[in-house]
Amino acid sequence: MSEKVWGGRFSEKTDSRVEMFTSSIDFDKRLYAHDIEGSIAHCKMLAKVSVISQKEAAILIKGLRKIKSDIEKGSFEFTDRLEDIHMHIEDRLQQEVGKVAQKLHTARSRNDQVAVDVRMYLRDETGKIIGKLGALRKAILHFAKLHMDVILPGYTHLQRAQPVLLPHHLMAYYEMFTRDVERFSEGLKRINVMPLGSAALAGTTYPIDREYTASLLSFPKVSANSIDSVSDRDFIIEFLSAASICMMHFSRISEELILWSSSEFGFIELSDAFSTGSSIMPQKKNPDVPELVRGKFGRVLGDLVALLTLMKSLPLAYNRDMQGDKEPLFDSVDTLKSCIDIYTDMIPKISVNKKTMYEASTSGFLNATDLADYLVNKGVTFREAHHCVGSAVVYAIENKKELNELNLTELQSFSSLISSDIFDVLDPKEMIDRRTSFGGTATANVTDAISAAEAALEKEKLALSETPPGE
Ligand code: ARG
Repeated sequence: MSEKVWGGRFSEKTDSRVEMFTSSIDFDKRLYAHDIEGSIAHCKMLAKVSVISQKEAAILIKGLRKIKSDIEKGSFEFTDRLEDIHMHIEDRLQQEVGKVAQKLHTARSRNDQVAVDVRMYLRDETGKIIGKLGALRKAILHFAKLHMDVILPGYTHLQRAQPVLLPHHLMAYYEMFTRDVERFSEGLKRINVMPLGSAALAGTTYPIDREYTASLLSFPKVSANSIDSVSDRDFIIEFLSAASICMMHFSRISEELILWSSSEFGFIELSDAFSTGSSIMPQKKNPDVPELVRGKFGRVLGDLVALLTLMKSLPLAYNRDMQGDKEPLFDSVDTLKSCIDIYTDMIPKISVNKKTMYEASTSGFLNATDLADYLVNKGVTFREAHHCVGSAVVYAIENKKELNELNLTELQSFSSLISSDIFDVLDPKEMIDRRTSFGGTATANVTDAISAAEAALEKEKLALSETPPGE
């Protein structure tokens, strides 16, 4: 390897530093199973088109399987002397089966090999992430159903706006995570394209059968251009952008859980198992899990920006810069999976302070719009009604009362159209249940939305278990 190349010109020490610097084995060893699977398919294809004999293919495949089990048993030595997982496996294959190992790399280059490995890895991970998001969404639905009678203030500008059902608020996150699943599934289409056979960049002179390799590896499609095949990392960038959007959603729910568990809000309490204490202040119970998740958004976004920057302006085709695609990818896969898992476990254990949430939704004039709508129903224009309610609010503030705490005579001083039925109209539960427009917070709507989501989730689960990855 480098000793041969640099020979007498460079010292041993320099050689080893270059070896260490260029080595990717520390992180790309996680591709070993996909690398071996890709190589086995490649062997079978080479035998099918008679580039190697069936007997040679059988020897190579047996050796590759042995290497896989050695890696899994921990009896495989990784070293910086061999720069990546591809070199490691090839080198070891030579030790296992002798010279015939040198035939494995016929009609292939590490450029198309690494591309197929990462694609196989990422389609597996995307499938796992979609499955995990399914479990998270199920936890949200379950939690929403348990709290059908909980009312809290809905906010705009972080100012109390109108009362909503807690399950309606939670279902907003359900929708976000559902769109995340759609984005990941959409990305699978472009991940699931088979690049092997593009060789270094121009294709190969051997009579290979790429469709056959693709079918062995369950790829529905073969890449159309050999130059693009070895230089395309769009599918990773797309994954990282879907991951960033998903983490942005996590950062929003985290922020709310952090706020809600503060004594200022007092809406929820995280379970002890998902909180930590302070080393100095004995009274503290900190929402560390949502805080850490909120912070990890930056990390995943950083991975996306790192890869976009890495790829920007790279001339075609393969460049060694591209070896740097794996650390951001692996980091985001790990980060996202751990955030989804911990939220799926944490959500069911959140306790809700129903009374505090309700009380918050009865102060701060959250029923002002409903008083205006009431007047509109009695024939007043909305502008006029808005003005009239505005004056009532000023009066109520001066008298330190809520609108529904004013008596009928006081209310009638703002409009003679107000009668005693107004008190029902201004009740938070009544206000919620009148918002029956599709997608609104009325109990009936939310119940329907949850049932529809449960049915969709069930269907999705079924489809996932029946469809091979990415189809
Ligand atoms: N470790 C390399 C990577 O991940 C594999 C491809 C190397 N190709 C090459 N021509 N040096 O990108």
